[in-house]
Amino acid sequence: MEQFKNHPNIHIMSHPLISHKLAILRDERTGTQEFRKVVSELATLMTYEATRNMPTEEVEIKTPVGMAKCQVLSGKKVAIVPILRAGLGMVDGILTLLPSAKVGHIGLYRDPKTLKPVEYFCKMPPDIAERDILLVDPMLATGGSGTAAIQFMKNYGCKKITMLNLLAAPEGLDLIAHDHPDVEVFVAAMDDHLNDHGYIVPGLGDAGDRIFGTK
Ligand code: PRP
Ligand code: URA
Repeated sequence: MEQFKNHPNIHIMSHPLISHKLAILRDERTGTQEFRKVVSELATLMTYEATRNMPTEEVEIKTPVGMAKCQVLSGKKVAIVPILRAGLGMVDGILTLLPSAKVGHIGLYRDPKTLKPVEYFCKMPPDIAERDILLVDPMLATGGSGTAAIQFMKNYGCKKITMLNLLAAPEGLDLIAHDHPDVEVFVAAMDDHLNDHGYIVPGLGDAGDRIFGTK
């Protein structure tokens, strides 16, 4: 993994499976069904990396042959928080590895004129402040939605927030690094720049529309 501009909390992943699956997402010929499946698979792969430093504790387990000293997860419980809509596409892939996680939802859409995020929905598990947060959205473009969602979770009292994005623009990573240097961010790839409509170039298009087949 590489770091973004030597920022210790922003990681750009590097793995052949991740690159291969991202290429499928970028391809304009990829249809909704495959797109949705591959988003989910990428979310699973990213979770594997993003949970690498989760705390563990030693327990003794009786195997059919003898006693084994084993490491099991010991940290706080996790909540997955997708930013609607597109973040929903990543939830199942994360639950594959963290099946007991709870799921909160933040509804934000980006105003196409101002590119600013507009909130329209929020529903969190009651113990959200006690949980470690995995905030997920396939796209980090200007970073407006990401930084607003992180602030939202901080306002709920959440202390440890990790964000997973499939694709990020440098502009978005700069904003998160500036606004929330304490938040750990994992991106599957960083692209070149944003176009005049705030789309990531070369990117993959509109993630929500491609996941849900709305265009
Ligand atoms: C997309 C994407 C992010 C946001 C990124 O959502 O899923 O939430 O744009 O852009 P930003 O970094 O410039 O804020 P969109 O507003 O298109 O809504 P959708 O998920 O409902 O399609
Ligand atoms: N949202 C998307 O879905 N795609 C982009 O490239 C930028 C924002």
